Amino acid sequence: MQIDPLAFELNEQIRKTSKNAYACLSETGRQIYFPAGILTQSAEAKQKAKKFNATIGIALENHAPMHLEATMRYFNHLKSDEIFTYAPPEGLPGLRRLWKDKIVRRNPTLTGKQISLPIVTSALTHGLSLIADLFIDAGDVIILPDKLWGVYNLIFSTRRGGRISTFPMFNAAGGFNVTGMADVMKKETKTQAKLTILLNTPNNPTGYTPSVAECQSIYEVVLAQANQGSQIVMLSDDAYFGLFYEDSMKESLFSGFCDLHENVLAVKLDAATKEHFVWGFRTGFITFGTVTQNPELLYQALEMKLKGLLRSTISSSNHASQHIIENILKDPDYENGINEKFQILKKRALKLKRILSDSKFDPDWGFYPFNSGYFMCLKLHRVNAEVLRKHLLDQYQIGTISLGDSDLRIAFSCIEEEDLDELVSLIHQAVRDLS
Ligand SMILES: Cc1ncc(COP(=O)(O)O)c(C=O)c1O
Repeated sequence: MQIDPLAFELNEQIRKTSKNAYACLSETGRQIYFPAGILTQSAEAKQKAKKFNATIGIALENHAPMHLEATMRYFNHLKSDEIFTYAPPEGLPGLRRLWKDKIVRRNPTLTGKQISLPIVTSALTHGLSLIADLFIDAGDVIILPDKLWGVYNLIFSTRRGGRISTFPMFNAAGGFNVTGMADVMKKETKTQAKLTILLNTPNNPTGYTPSVAECQSIYEVVLAQANQGSQIVMLSDDAYFGLFYEDSMKESLFSGFCDLHENVLAVKLDAATKEHFVWGFRTGFITFGTVTQNPELLYQALEMKLKGLLRSTISSSNHASQHIIENILKDPDYENGINEKFQILKKRALKLKRILSDSKFDPDWGFYPFNSGYFMCLKLHRVNAEVLRKHLLDQYQIGTISLGDSDLRIAFSCIEEEDLDELVSLIHQAVRDLS
């Protein structure tokens, strides 16, 4: 297929600033561009058309977005042009700056590092999908720990034809299996020049975040692979960022990947969804970081590529949600509010761990290490996870998630602290019924 001149220009901009990013682009990634169409002309008009602006496909009335009073009634603190009009495809500029400030504040080792301005997505699933469009071709490998969020299969394999290659997430000592990760990378490089690696910390489903030492080892194996000439896209899925309850790494892995090597393009995927308890808002972000002589040019070209993908899929993300997130990030109560909810979830995690550490459960189950996030995962010894899940539902009206034969995921984020004893006791009873 012939390449559009605008796409060609962007590709050249990427090639000149990062050979790695260029090599990692998928065919869609190479083809995509942001057309100089209605949005570009309308943005120009917004600056200059002070008399009449007849560009964009919305309706105005009395110089404000036309709307039904019945709709406006549901919004008390937003203006009509913060709700009804389109947001730019890449997101509200103020929100993007504030989110970047927040990322750097919460990941102090990013200070002074050259990362892009985050691009707004319709939350994290969408961000992953855009990144898959940009970098994954049929047959490309995506390396992941075997404890993973199942939707990755749909995003990377079903939609893009990629091949998911996993390694056991935990080693025999119950730590993050860095050696396993290095082994699968080595194995895959025999046939693949490009490696896409996805790490999700805090992890869904286990609730584990590696220690600082483990993260250091992870950086070392990726660096070694980059030094060997592999072209690497390093994805950090930070859906549960910030919910670190014990002695794990308390920053995103992105902090160490974004300036690791010129052959590593680091991508941080995060969202207000879980961090700010707004699951239905659909506001997420994509941030890039790599070693390059000209970060500005590179990030600008990658942003244009993403804008093309955004424009051709959802066009732009929800405007009102973006304004609300922008406002809460400026709210003087923001940090207190986040900390208050963090403490509630932390207490639940620690209490659940205390309850589960009773040796009376040993014959029936163990549990994967957990220190963060929304979830933990039981490893059942005697009963099948799906059989137990159904039994819990039918006999005890308790909902859990079965994963494979032996793993049962519990979202302690949904259970009040005072109910945890009863929850565990009933799950134990249910296991006993079956074994
Ligand atoms: C690891 C992980 N990534 C991404 C998502 C999706 O987040 P969002 O709702 O922001 O699309 C989830 C949601 O369950 C998740 O667990």
